[in-house]
Amino acid sequence: MPNDVVDMKNGPSLPSEDVATLLAALVSEARRVEPVSLTCGTVWIKRHGDKGRRMIVALQKAAARLLRLPFMRPSPVETAEGMVERDLRRIASYSKAGVPTAEVIYSSGRAIVLSDIAPTVHNRLRYLRDTDPAAHDRLLVFCCAELGRLHAAGLCHGRPYPRDMFIRDERLGFIDFEEEPEAVMPMQTAQARDLWLLFLQLSERAADRKTTQDRAYGAWAAAAPKAAVAELRKITRSMGRFLWLSRLIGRIHMGRDLRQFILATTYLTTMFNG
Ligand SMILES: Nc1ncnc2c1ncn2[C@@H]1O[C@H](COP(=O)(O)OP(=O)(O)O)[C@@H](O)[C@H]1O
Ligand SMILES: [Mg+2]
Repeated sequence: MPNDVVDMKNGPSLPSEDVATLLAALVSEARRVEPVSLTCGTVWIKRHGDKGRRMIVALQKAAARLLRLPFMRPSPVETAEGMVERDLRRIASYSKAGVPTAEVIYSSGRAIVLSDIAPTVHNRLRYLRDTDPAAHDRLLVFCCAELGRLHAAGLCHGRPYPRDMFIRDERLGFIDFEEEPEAVMPMQTAQARDLWLLFLQLSERAADRKTTQDRAYGAWAAAAPKAAVAELRKITRSMGRFLWLSRLIGRIHMGRDLRQFILATTYLTTMFNG
């Protein structure tokens, strides 16, 4: 290896001028997640911290117990170092299963540096929404089909949102592994919850809603384990209990989260009962 190239831990080598840029960015107290331009292109620094998460997690735990919704249980709270380890562990298991994810360029105690996966699916969807609504909806269906493949491989994501997805070699890739739902619930429950979370986004975004929901659900169910489909039916039943209340609140104030909840849960409830 030439002198001016530094071998980064578990990752590709970086020219020394890039190492300086990267180190300067790592020690600066900038945003939690930020892109840094290096000679080889862009990399992303993610700093794990507390994010005031403990309070939210405690509240979510209490709500899950009170409302008897086990699939709402939050992932175990981790220290910043534990979050970095969780991220690395999940990136490794995705890579092992052949699922695209960002490449780890460097990791230190509380921060991790990843390769650039842009554009995200969220960015593609935003572009397609105005230019090609049919392609926009096909991309949503593709995400569900690929989520089903991920589940069939025995994995789950925890928060599969389009802003944390990308496409590489015609496969769907994922980043942002902050959740670990399978630590607090069975894998099939975590997988069903993944689909429900993606459906919250999809149901609101789809240009041709009903057709896209039908195709997307069908694509996921065709690939996903049968146990996850059975769990989704259970989750839908427990969520369905809150539909009347949500609609009532929605008459007074229809926020975005509420709208997503109503659109997704109404569809799934009708689909399982119909
Ligand atoms: N490696 C990466 N390549 C491209 N974009 C990224 C990368 N990492 C993060 N981003 C962008 O930054 C956003 C936030 O990063 P993320 O890891 O999801 O943190 P969080 O959602 O916890 O704030 C992502 O949704 C994505 O748009
Ligand atoms: Mg994210």
